[in-house]
Amino acid sequence: MSEQRVLTGITTSGTPHLGNYVGAIRPAVRASLQAGVQSFYFLADYHALIKVGEPARIQRSTLEIAATWLAAGLDPERVIFYRQSDIPEIPELTWFLTCLTGKGLLNRAHAYKAQVDKNTAAGHDPDAEVSAGLFMYPVLMAADILMFKAHRVPVGRDQIQHIEMARDIAASFNHLYGPQLVLPEADIEETVATLPGLDGRKMSKSYDNTIALFAPRELLRKQIAGLVTDSRAPGEPKSTEGSALFDIYQAFADAAETQAMREAFAQGIAWGEAKERLFERIDREIAPMRASYDELMAHPQRLEDILQAGARKARALATPFMAELRECVGLRSLHQEKKVSETKNAGKPSLPTLKQYREKDGRFYFKLVDGQGRLLLQSVGFAHPREFSEIANKLQQGKAEAFEQHQDLFLPLNDEETHALQAALNILRLQK
Ligand code: TRP
Repeated sequence: MSEQRVLTGITTSGTPHLGNYVGAIRPAVRASLQAGVQSFYFLADYHALIKVGEPARIQRSTLEIAATWLAAGLDPERVIFYRQSDIPEIPELTWFLTCLTGKGLLNRAHAYKAQVDKNTAAGHDPDAEVSAGLFMYPVLMAADILMFKAHRVPVGRDQIQHIEMARDIAASFNHLYGPQLVLPEADIEETVATLPGLDGRKMSKSYDNTIALFAPRELLRKQIAGLVTDSRAPGEPKSTEGSALFDIYQAFADAAETQAMREAFAQGIAWGEAKERLFERIDREIAPMRASYDELMAHPQRLEDILQAGARKARALATPFMAELRECVGLRSLHQEKKVSETKNAGKPSLPTLKQYREKDGRFYFKLVDGQGRLLLQSVGFAHPREFSEIANKLQQGKAEAFEQHQDLFLPLNDEETHALQAALNILRLQK
């Protein structure tokens, strides 16, 4: 299949604001219209449960986010649009992946580490307020991605680490059970602006500086009137540099409109007038969507039907794939015969092994090869084997630092090879 599969999830824990629209929703809807791409968009409500313990808020946010994406132009006929919790295969895959994810890998996850650091700084127990759900977050996210064999995952910078972890976990799975999972890549949209909020900092719920996306028209006007500006009086030339008003305007305007606003700034447009222009420009883009948003919000059953239809499409892929994966890991009918490949090595996956040898140059070398005999890591030559015995021992135990701290002792690896090595070390660590 040559089609690229692109997948992204939206945690259902809030109400979409203008910054979400410019930074995520609008570019994603545009990308979903590209030819040759199969897009998956889903409401990550299992993820929301990690942060939100209020049932009504989970439901409300799911409703609002579903309505927002559809109103913004996502076409559920063209893409697969579903709710995570409608796909029971996802938690099942999460468990499979959990069993081959090193705890050490999860210890390094940013969100978990940030909470631990915060606790430590405050003199609390390091794991205070850390649920196992927060700790497992990256594994659930890996299952979301790997279930649908996504090639690309458009995410913000803060999520790159999660995609890398999904890759590592997929590589470990493939190493142990054969090539079942596609290794995904993060897709970072460099050109998408982050929108400033009402106070000029990045628009974010946590700064309480957001502009609602589908607030009624008059409320939008009122919110924009509250945008920070400097104290230059009407008639005084104004700087576009560092102006939140100008930046937001630019995110909605075309080149000619932006140029006209730039000139108005130079000519000393009054802030009140500039805000009114900004309001009208945003409203021009948003108003038609607001109408369909309001319509959808008034008919939750319609949204539910759309999500159910999406879940049927998603499960048409997930159910058979999960059956294959169950079979792969050995959860299978008892009267079924073992696969030939498994009987050959008595059902035990072949582990990576370390080989030592002497070359014609008289020097000693070692290398790590995987179960199929493919080279994973090649050392340089040593005068005596004892010079590398400690590092070799550590590698055999799957300790990645043996490689990371002594990269000069090995032939260089590209990204793909580094991932393969890391997956192999992970297997060694877990199989001990
Ligand atoms: N963690 C993502 C966020 O907070 C949401 C998410 C959950 C996601 N599962 C995903 C994104 C899978 C991409 C792919 O933004």
